[in-house]
Amino acid sequence: MAIFLTGSTGYIGAHVAANLMQDHGASLNLLVRARDPHEAEDRLWHALQLHLPFKHFYEYLQTRVRIFRGDLTSERFGLSTDDYDRLVHTTDSIIHCAASLNRKSEKSCLNVNLRGTLEVIKLGLQTDHYHGLRRFSHVSTVAVAGKRQDEVVTEDNAIDWDRSDYDPYARTKKFCEHMIRQLLPDVPKTIFRPSIVLGDSRRAETTQFDMVRAFVFLAGLPTLPLRGRDRVDIVNVDFVADAVATLHVKEQTQYDTYHLSSGRDSQTYKQLTASLAAAQGKRGPVYLPFLEGPFTSAVNLISNRKNALGRGAALMKVFMPYLTFNTVFDNTRVTQELGRKPVPFSQYSFPLLKFSRQTNFAYPYQPWPAKVGGSAA
Ligand SMILES: NC(=O)c1ccc[n+]([C@@H]2O[C@H](COP(=O)([O-])OP(=O)(O)OC[C@H]3O[C@@H](n4cnc5c(N)ncnc54)[C@H](OP(=O)(O)O)[C@@H]3O)[C@@H](O)[C@H]2O)c1
Repeated sequence: MAIFLTGSTGYIGAHVAANLMQDHGASLNLLVRARDPHEAEDRLWHALQLHLPFKHFYEYLQTRVRIFRGDLTSERFGLSTDDYDRLVHTTDSIIHCAASLNRKSEKSCLNVNLRGTLEVIKLGLQTDHYHGLRRFSHVSTVAVAGKRQDEVVTEDNAIDWDRSDYDPYARTKKFCEHMIRQLLPDVPKTIFRPSIVLGDSRRAETTQFDMVRAFVFLAGLPTLPLRGRDRVDIVNVDFVADAVATLHVKEQTQYDTYHLSSGRDSQTYKQLTASLAAAQGKRGPVYLPFLEGPFTSAVNLISNRKNALGRGAALMKVFMPYLTFNTVFDNTRVTQELGRKPVPFSQYSFPLLKFSRQTNFAYPYQPWPAKVGGSAA
């Protein structure tokens, strides 16, 4: 039997897949979008090469991974009846990590997050019907807490239906949690809500650059339109993946919902920029919070440009509310249950910044080795 994992070609999903295989000896059923088996294996190799040398990847592919080529937005993921039956009968638990993070697109969030999650729930129901579903884990987000200011939010007071959301992503992810609770009442569940997932504390390399771009954009400014004493809740991806994998495989968890975040230990902008400035032998930025209004207008204007600056500004535009709400997410549950804490961002931010600048925000992917057999050779 295997864990069905969605989103393994994505940033967090690849970390979770690697962790499950390397640290927990798990077998995986993976949903991968691809036109043919060759493309599916190649896409998986791209996602996992940050974690595994090709030799180990290939060994896992042969022995512990079953790829199901499908799409969340299609009925039964677009699988044939035989493949769907095989998926149902070989899955004993589910980790749903895939999502659309396109904060600007109602359509994409509706289709991938709502319709997609409903398809995963339907698989969970089928699996539960035939042989029992051990656990349904869902990777949600702290964004479900909606609009906030200067707060410490606990797991139990995050969902507030009377509160507005910042964007369609937050709104649809909030409803995903609701669907899972309503439609799978008798299945053991874990809802994971990561905060801003940025970088791996073990290495400088990353394959995900969206938040990094916004961070590099801000780190390069001599003045910042922020309050220096505001805290920003950033968490390292290795902590998130480890928490998801460890709690998912546990027989019983203490809670059904966990913030995967830095919580009260979140650092302030001043702490973060001071450590970056020290690492570069530079002066830190000046904080001018009253410039937030003009800065936001300038970002909105620049975000229409079709160049690198425009792309950076477009990202800033969607992330800005999450950078100025000075809200952190209590992580007592996960830190107590795992017996460890996330690594402070200041301890690994400089190598991440350096790597991203050096590679111009593109991971130097290794192609599938020419000499190896298998369908991708
Ligand atoms: N990154 C963060 O800071 C952060 C913070 C809080 C919560 N989260 C949550 O963490 C999860 C993973 O985020 P991430 O940063 O790893 O995102 P990501 O790198 O964009 O990965 C998204 C994954 O979802 C898959 N996916 C998207 N649409 C799909 C579809 N129609 N059918 C099948 N698969 C589809 C993607 O497949 P393709 O490779 O084929 O596109 C990819 O594997 C999400 O649930 C997100 O809400 C992320």
